[in-house]
Amino acid sequence: MRNILVTGGAGFIGSNFVRMILEEQKDCFVVNLDKLTYAGNLENLKKYKEHSNHHFVKGDICDGKLVKKLIDEFNVDAIVNFAAESHVDRSIEEPKVFIDTNVAGTLILLEIARDKELERFVQVSTDEVYGSLGPEGVFTETTPLSPNSPYSASKAAADHFVAAFGHTWGIRYNITRCSNNYGQYQFPEKMIPLMINNALNNKDLPVYGDGLYVRDWLYVYDHCTAVWKILTEATPGEIYNIGGCNEKTNLEVVGIILERLGKPDSLIKHVKDRPGHDRRYAIDATKIINELSWEPSVTFEEGIIETIDWYLNNNDWLESVVSGDYQKYYESMYKDR
Ligand code: NAD
Ligand code: TYD
Repeated sequence: MRNILVTGGAGFIGSNFVRMILEEQKDCFVVNLDKLTYAGNLENLKKYKEHSNHHFVKGDICDGKLVKKLIDEFNVDAIVNFAAESHVDRSIEEPKVFIDTNVAGTLILLEIARDKELERFVQVSTDEVYGSLGPEGVFTETTPLSPNSPYSASKAAADHFVAAFGHTWGIRYNITRCSNNYGQYQFPEKMIPLMINNALNNKDLPVYGDGLYVRDWLYVYDHCTAVWKILTEATPGEIYNIGGCNEKTNLEVVGIILERLGKPDSLIKHVKDRPGHDRRYAIDATKIINELSWEPSVTFEEGIIETIDWYLNNNDWLESVVSGDYQKYYESMYKDR
């Protein structure tokens, strides 16, 4: 039995990761530590709340006492750290909490992983730590870090701490740097679910600037299989880029959503751009493909249709997350755009 502490396991990617383990790895026990911020939602794991291989704890990764207690109580072998403040626009409005969770919280986990001599510490990072690309080129694992947003700066700082703990104390770590994820249970502050939700409600789709910004989209399940392979097969100290070679402009993605939902292009509204908006991300994932034989299971064209249909078929989930505070968030973020 492998006992894994998954942090942020009630968020978008973390909950997909926990579900994948519970479905596919019967000899694995998951301790799921999540603060349940606005982005964390136990409904993401509704079917698995009482699963015998799953123990959920509401708590903060900054609470070292609690983390130590969980590691001892459940004989934890490895930590996979998904917990984070994850939205670029929020980091521009309010950067401080990004330092608290993404940097200070990671540091606390690292100190505990070091002291408890855990088998592995996997830091789930992002391609955004590399900064922005022009029309050509791709990020490799040796691309220098050059983060542009408070979010990516906090993730890059955490990556440096992880590597420094490996260098100084020999902790067995890996860092994953994935491109933009899409799929079921993504909170509708991120572009794809926000556009789906607005289109379903016949509301304007707020496309930042010219809409020609490029993201390299990966289906969330494929990110999860990559993290699992890294956790179980990678050599400690290695960093892996994860991506699906699916570069699309934001306008292309919005076009696919409108077409699938049978809504008119007239819903597209170009709005004031995001300050410091990174123009293009693109991942070279050769290393994980060659070394760990990982490959994505779906194309973007398949995954995006599945995703749109999931939101259509899970209107209750969508309705519940866009009630209350989300309305205030949307109002404050978009009213002057
Ligand atoms: P999310 O915002 O959907 O989920 C984050 C989760 O972390 C939430 O459940 C939240 O409650 C929890 N959390 C926040 N602060 C916490 C704290 N102090 N203690 C415990 N739990 C806390 O984010 P996501 O999109 O699922 O991203 C997960 C990870 O993957 C993040 O580290 C992010 O940087 C990284 N990542 C995301 C993407 C993407 O496209 N979404 C791409 C690459 C990497
Ligand atoms: P987002 O989902 O916030 O991810 P990230 O900024 O981490 O890449 O945004 C994806 C792209 O969509 C990015 O270029 C910003 C753009 N975008 C919009 O045009 N309108 C929106 O309302 C949002 C949230 C994002």
